[in-house]
Amino acid sequence: MRDQLKRFIDQMEDNSIAIIPAAHEKTRSYDTEYKFRQDSDFWYLTGFPEPDAIAVIDPKNKRAPYTLYVRPRDPLMETWYGRRQGTEGAQKNHGADKAFPSDKFEKDLPKLLDGHDKLYYRFSVDADLDRQVLAYLSGQRVRRLKTAYPPHTIIDPTIILGEMRLHKSEQEVEMMQTAATIAADAHILAMKKVKPGMTEGQVEALMEAFMKDKGASGVAYNSIVGGGDNATILHYVENNAELKDGDLLLIDAGAEYQGYASDITRTFPVNGKFTPAQREVYDVVLDVQGKCVEYTSVGNTVKARQEYSIELLTEGMQKLGLLKGKTADLIKKKAYLKYYMHGVGHYLGLDVHDAGRYFTDQEAKNSRPFAPGMVLTVEPGIYVPADDKSAPAKYRGIGIRIEDDVLVTENGPRNLTAKVTKAPDEIESLMQRSSRK
Ligand code: GLY
Ligand code: MN
Ligand code: MN
Repeated sequence: MRDQLKRFIDQMEDNSIAIIPAAHEKTRSYDTEYKFRQDSDFWYLTGFPEPDAIAVIDPKNKRAPYTLYVRPRDPLMETWYGRRQGTEGAQKNHGADKAFPSDKFEKDLPKLLDGHDKLYYRFSVDADLDRQVLAYLSGQRVRRLKTAYPPHTIIDPTIILGEMRLHKSEQEVEMMQTAATIAADAHILAMKKVKPGMTEGQVEALMEAFMKDKGASGVAYNSIVGGGDNATILHYVENNAELKDGDLLLIDAGAEYQGYASDITRTFPVNGKFTPAQREVYDVVLDVQGKCVEYTSVGNTVKARQEYSIELLTEGMQKLGLLKGKTADLIKKKAYLKYYMHGVGHYLGLDVHDAGRYFTDQEAKNSRPFAPGMVLTVEPGIYVPADDKSAPAKYRGIGIRIEDDVLVTENGPRNLTAKVTKAPDEIESLMQRSSRK
């Protein structure tokens, strides 16, 4: 049995059962679908790659605790839409103790759930499965427990899964390092190739082709490739403008490898040379970013790191003349939000904004301390709107973010994305040495 599944079972409550669904294919338009991406929790637990499956985990059933409901083999469907493992493959190749066709699940539900006190199930992920579970529960209630024993408690399995996913195993770290290295190399490639006159879309295309060539399944999220003041739009994904001489380019792009995400941002000059004004803002962000990487260490907390980034960036904004007044007042008034409006980082794993709680208590007062095995991004930024009359004119339209992926270890933070330089002099010399001219 897969290690993750074993560890999940170890944490399930007595006399409980879990139902964890796979993702479904989603329509993109008319009769075409988006490329399929497995549900992260389901993938983490089962490693089963197909849509429409359901995992049933029943530790009480000692001989067969793990059942998979899967799409059945079907020569016609497989000719049209691709191979299927079927029930045989689910057992032989994916470790299920038993396997049945998915369309049998609804009928089997009473027999599966009856006799358990607790059900691990997350509502609101899969509407059709919600309907089936609710129909079962209400049906059993009508029987007034005379002949049935339905679960009396429903528990969200992400309580367990979120904690598990937050603390990465050695094998997970290895896969995350691969995702990080592929993305880092893609950013290096972009630095070598970008020149005035290219479009944002061409840069996106060359990075994504590279990622796939190196074994990634694709991007971990839609790449953000923003030239000039497009960099001040946080989730800019149009990526269709021409890159101009004298502008900066902000690229936020990560690769997905075996389901694991990387998430890197670099900002560099389209023509290979920072202007003095660009460099001034860049140096502030770089300094804050480096300090926040160091801060991502055992003994500190997620919330304190956010506050630290706010303090440092506020001071930086004062130095640049973007904000005026006393640092403490500016922080109290949240004046920094005008130029820095997002968090300094997030958990990273199978999802780019990964699972796991940021607080350790129900009142959400106690922020989680960093612990070995956690992976977080570090991504401060300064974004000066092009029409911001209160900012010095030379900074208007400049957007800079620098983002690395950091593993917390006993021996301090390990930067998984250090391979792609963020030192401005090194970026310039890399760009000028390359064949882009
Ligand atoms: N690329 C998404 C993020 O940085 O959070
Ligand atoms: Mn990020
Ligand atoms: Mn990012």
